[in-house]
Amino acid sequence: MSPRYAHITGWGMAIPEKIVTNHDLEKMVDTNDEWIISRTGIRERRIASDGQSTATLAAEAGLRALEVANLRPADLDLIIVSTSSPEYLFPATACLVQDQIGAVKAGAFDLSAACTGFVYALNLAAQAIRSHSIENALVIGSETLSRLVNWKDRNTCILFGDGAGAFVLQASEEVGGVLSAVMRSDGSGGELLVVPAGGSRHLTSLQTVYEGQHYIQMNGREVFRFATRVMSQATQEAVAAANLKMEDIQWIIPHQANQRIIEAAARNLEFPMERVIVNLDRYGNTSTASIPLAVCEAIQDGRLKPGDRVVMVAFGAGLTWGSVLTQWTGPFPTRRKVRPKRVRFWARLRSLLRRLRRRLDGLLWGRGGTA
Ligand code: ACO
Repeated sequence: MSPRYAHITGWGMAIPEKIVTNHDLEKMVDTNDEWIISRTGIRERRIASDGQSTATLAAEAGLRALEVANLRPADLDLIIVSTSSPEYLFPATACLVQDQIGAVKAGAFDLSAACTGFVYALNLAAQAIRSHSIENALVIGSETLSRLVNWKDRNTCILFGDGAGAFVLQASEEVGGVLSAVMRSDGSGGELLVVPAGGSRHLTSLQTVYEGQHYIQMNGREVFRFATRVMSQATQEAVAAANLKMEDIQWIIPHQANQRIIEAAARNLEFPMERVIVNLDRYGNTSTASIPLAVCEAIQDGRLKPGDRVVMVAFGAGLTWGSVLTQWTGPFPTRRKVRPKRVRFWARLRSLLRRLRRRLDGLLWGRGGTA
């Protein structure tokens, strides 16, 4: 089999309209704008409205990425949604997205690796393409962490925001795309960042809700120490795995959790901050969405260009951390034009008809209706 590469040919983002500033938070908890900016770098974050969810944001970002790549949802073989705020324990949010965009032949699953999820998902999709198992994949990081945050807990509510970002990956014989990746974990630090209840270990009960165990709980200092250690390490490992040197890298796009963590990593790597993409001041920590959101903005403002070598590096609950080194590509030439509005209309109609058929089958044949 000839060697194959997985290129990133489309990108898209979706952010809620509602902005919550640090000044807004001052009215909710004992905090202030100056503290939040100096300790985190965050000025404001986006919060999902009632009609928005992890799946709707993901579908919107995914369709935009398909529009850039000019790839139809029907051409997708795989959809991975990395998220820490899935709509349900099951079905997977990725399946809701598959239905919303009408990706008729795609497998779909969620990936849970907290804020490192997008980096893991990118690598897995790229490996599936490189091994000739699939041709086209949609990788989405989507979060509505605002719904898992205790808005009375100043340790956490100042940090997180909602949003989604997506990449389309496509196969090509041309050298480029995802060149190397690092995936690591250390479960001994699991309790440092955790949503204690709502899973099978501590089922939701009146008691867990009363104790607020369905909210994010975090040991900020420990997570901070861990993050500053692994971010530079993971970057160096991905660069070495691709037989490159730090001088060969044009951009680092880190998980957007804290300005001080990002600056510490850049310092350790002796990498100039002008070549590190940061947008956390406007979005806060959007977990798995943070890297693709930063990528989309770096493309929009003309910083990230085809041919550039980029390291995307993240850390998160688990504990997990990882990185992906890519040579940036852009859309493959094609005459096709994908129109998201039209795609949505047909996907909705298809979903409706399938539900109707399932109901009719049920009525006609009893419980043995087709899938
Ligand atoms: N406003 C004002 N004061 C505050 C606030 C606040 N929002 N939060 C804490 N403080 C106080 C503390 O009570 C403490 O007061 P004390 O000294 O009287 O005890 C003081 O400020 C310093 O608190 P620290 O926790 O030491 O502050 P630190 O400088 O470590 O900053 C922060 C806290 C921002 C949470 C930092 O530790 C951090 O960013 N950690 C990493 C968190 C992270 O990235 N989490 C996401 C991981 S990704 C994922 O998987 C979802």
